[in-house]
Amino acid sequence: MSSEENRLEHIAIIMDGNGRWAKKRGLPRTLGHRKGAEVVKEICKAAEKAGIKYLTLYAFSTENWKRSEDEVASLMDLLRQYLKSDFQELHERGVRIRFIGERQMLPADIVENMVKLEDQTAANDKMTLCIALSYGSRQEIVHAARRLALLAKRGDINVDDIDKKLFSDMLYTKDIPDPDILIRTSGEQRISNYLLWQLAYTEFFFTDALWPDFNEKQLLEIIDSYKSRERRYGKIKAE
Ligand code: FPP
Repeated sequence: MSSEENRLEHIAIIMDGNGRWAKKRGLPRTLGHRKGAEVVKEICKAAEKAGIKYLTLYAFSTENWKRSEDEVASLMDLLRQYLKSDFQELHERGVRIRFIGERQMLPADIVENMVKLEDQTAANDKMTLCIALSYGSRQEIVHAARRLALLAKRGDINVDDIDKKLFSDMLYTKDIPDPDILIRTSGEQRISNYLLWQLAYTEFFFTDALWPDFNEKQLLEIIDSYKSRERRYGKIKAE
């Protein structure tokens, strides 16, 4: 297998199972999210240590707005806290932070702090932590199509200029390479409107561990297992 096929620079994760973790312990779901947020810190550190250049985490989907008011409010509070303090640690370690998703749906104070953090960490190059927040991939694709239509209508581009590269440049993930690995915790096996365009050739890993129980050891096991997979990108097996 060539080193090109073995490339590992980007891991994307669907952090699922916080609610079930809490329920199993007779705790409110919000405590599951709190524990899940602790695990976010551990996994960021582990990914940095493993030399991963991009880590994309699904923190809140556009569909998650349909959860109870209490649960949404507590997730927003958790995020506020992380934006003000915990993410600063990442900045000190040289991590760049980016957010992808529908910002107009988020509370204004949160968006303000997201922008601040993105600006503050823009020159960091140890790793990029990309947080999908109020994110939905179909919406992202529609948004990209609209932007291209507008550019064509204005005469800024020709319809023939639209290719995979230009389309990718219209997505929130512009300049971020496609994920090499997708991990979903909690035993569910679906991608739930996550990075639909970007996951075209990604290797998928599903683990039964609930997100609050996920740890560095399990991440390293997945990385090891990925290394022995053969990525073909639609080609036939290399002789
Ligand atoms: C899925 O579990 C998880 C979420 C909807 C939220 C993920 C959020 C965090 C891990 C914490 C906040 C993140 C940051 C970046 C500070 P679920 O609630 O769907 O669990 P269930 O399927 O067991 O009910």
